[in-house]
Amino acid sequence: MSARDRDGDTTRLHVVTGKGGTGKTTVAASLALALAAGGGTVLLVEVEGRQGIARLFGIRPLPYEERPIADAPGGGRVCALAADAESALLEYLELFYGMRRAGQVLTRFGAVDFATTIAPGMRDVLLTGKATEAVRRRAGERRRGGRDAGGGRPVYDAVVMDAPPTGRIAQFLNVNAEVAGLARAGPVRNHADTVMATLRSAQTAVHFVTVLEEMPVQETVDGIGEIRAAGLNVGSVLVNMVHPGFFDEPVLEDAAEGAVDTGALVRGLKAAGLADAEHTARGLAAEMGGHAQRARAEAGIRARLDGVDRPRLELPLLDRGVGPDELRVLAEHLGEQGL
Ligand SMILES: Nc1ncnc2c1ncn2[C@@H]1O[C@H](COP(=O)(O)OP(=O)(O)O)[C@@H](O)[C@H]1O
Ligand SMILES: [Mg+2]
Repeated sequence: MSARDRDGDTTRLHVVTGKGGTGKTTVAASLALALAAGGGTVLLVEVEGRQGIARLFGIRPLPYEERPIADAPGGGRVCALAADAESALLEYLELFYGMRRAGQVLTRFGAVDFATTIAPGMRDVLLTGKATEAVRRRAGERRRGGRDAGGGRPVYDAVVMDAPPTGRIAQFLNVNAEVAGLARAGPVRNHADTVMATLRSAQTAVHFVTVLEEMPVQETVDGIGEIRAAGLNVGSVLVNMVHPGFFDEPVLEDAAEGAVDTGALVRGLKAAGLADAEHTARGLAAEMGGHAQRARAEAGIRARLDGVDRPRLELPLLDRGVGPDELRVLAEHLGEQGL
């Protein structure tokens, strides 16, 4: 464990990254539900503008506004927010300068697009700024720049960010480096410093979602190195879509070598009263061989993850699409693994 990595109990901002398609959005949503279980209030933030969260929960597209979207066992609650850079900039101008109207005028003239296209660093700091502000926000505080006004308890027990993919995550979170070229002093610089302080603190952990395939695992290993190099904390590795294991090790080994006891299969199928047992047995034996070979390949890939000294949690491949009910199943798996 690197000096900067921290274990879960202090974490309040969970950044979920991973190779595209490995289940970032699914896992982020399950994580939010798992963290809310037992009575917590958790904010799930989307920053890529894809409305993946709304689709997953089967609700209407989310606005730039925090709203409850799901209950968790034990009185917990998950709220969600779809953050986009333009709305975040308008809010920023209003909070810091009381300039909402002016901001709207800027938008109308396309100046906001200008700012966010010209300076990707600005775009990122606005999005990470929104998530870190939610982490710091306390009940009863006047939201001026989200500064900690002391007093009340945190509004959110945890914030989960469905973040950009592994290829972009280090740059996305390394707000300091990005803004350094934009502003050496002044409010943007100060804002970036505040955001970075939260991102670098023990309150933030970056989790990596992967599946047991070559490329996503390689991106995970590389991504962990980049996150550490940026001085950020790595959380857990979340292995998603793990195939169920149907057979014990010796049977698997034989099957992978093409040595399936077809005679036993035929006898079993006949005993079960199936017609054409021979044909079915051959088909089953071929499937077993394929399954066993995949299991062997996965074991090799899993072994590469053994070199990663962070907690590893596994989520099963569900054989139906993922909707709200399946998210709860996945959240329970996370809870059982001592999330
Ligand atoms: N554990 C799982 N079992 C079955 N399907 C899954 C699982 N996790 C994700 N999926 C499916 O995989 C696809 C990609 O998931 P998604 O969360 O959108 O990935 P990402 O956000 O990384 O692009 C979706 O169709 C989703 O329903
Ligand atoms: Mg997604």
